[in-house]
Amino acid sequence: MNNKRIHQQHRRRFLGITGVAAATVVLNGLPLAARAASRRMKIGIVGSGKVGTAIGSSWVRAGHTVMFSSRSIDHDEALAARLGDNALAGTPRQAAEFGEVVMISVPYHALPDVRKDLGDLIEGKVVIDTCNPFVWRDGELATWAREKGAGLASLELLPGARIVRAFNAIGYVNMGNAYQQPGRIGMPIASDDADAIAIALPLIRDVGYEPVMIGGMEMGKYLMPGTPLAGEHTPKEVREIAATLK
Ligand SMILES: NC(=O)c1ccc[n+]([C@@H]2O[C@H](COP(=O)([O-])OP(=O)(O)OC[C@H]3O[C@@H](n4cnc5c(N)ncnc54)[C@H](OP(=O)(O)O)[C@@H]3O)[C@@H](O)[C@H]2O)c1
Repeated sequence: MNNKRIHQQHRRRFLGITGVAAATVVLNGLPLAARAASRRMKIGIVGSGKVGTAIGSSWVRAGHTVMFSSRSIDHDEALAARLGDNALAGTPRQAAEFGEVVMISVPYHALPDVRKDLGDLIEGKVVIDTCNPFVWRDGELATWAREKGAGLASLELLPGARIVRAFNAIGYVNMGNAYQQPGRIGMPIASDDADAIAIALPLIRDVGYEPVMIGGMEMGKYLMPGTPLAGEHTPKEVREIAATLK
């Protein structure tokens, strides 16, 4: 199936989220959303830096099996050893293959390389995109992405991936501790794909945040630092802020 058709299908599913039951992704005989809710998933993380480590550690704590990856296998092996049996280390290709869900958490300028390296593996997979474009760090790609909107830009850079933008608008410092006060902070998310959202929701709750759906990927441009949604807000505050953006 070509990428455009996959995207159109996912978009139709998202548009049906309020009424029509979404088509269901089945993996190993069990719907993927049910596996997410049952709290035992295989998650691949591409980019085991500040955000990848904080979120991945919380998922390990919640009982998921997480494979961490970057271009520094020594770092990932040390991280996995520190986190225990549910944590693994691998190359980005191994993590993308391993994960029923893949989280991509790299500097935005690395996304073209990620597509080149992993495009065949992430096509059709649920991908959580934490990545934000900054001109000071990511150069011209960030200028383009900010003009287009970060959500739509990510869709174009990772074609065929079933993207949920999440963990973008909050600094990493408290991410690894959010589980201590579950639901206190709202996590704005955006996606065009109802199935992917259903799979991401319990995973976001496992980190300690209450997910708040802001809208489709065109709203992904608001899930970044420097927007009204940025920073830590209660779920109610996130909903109130989001209402002013529409
Ligand atoms: N820091 C925050 O508070 C925060 C909050 C929300 C969202 N974000 C966004 O989330 C993303 C990650 O942020 P971060 O702060 O975690 O960055 P970071 O600490 O610099 O980590 C980036 C990770 O990506 C890896 N990486 C870079 N290029 C790669 C490639 N081509 N293939 C595979 N792995 C690659 C890096 O390891 P190697 O270089 O060894 O490969 C590193 O593990 C960024 O887009 C950022 O804007 C950050």
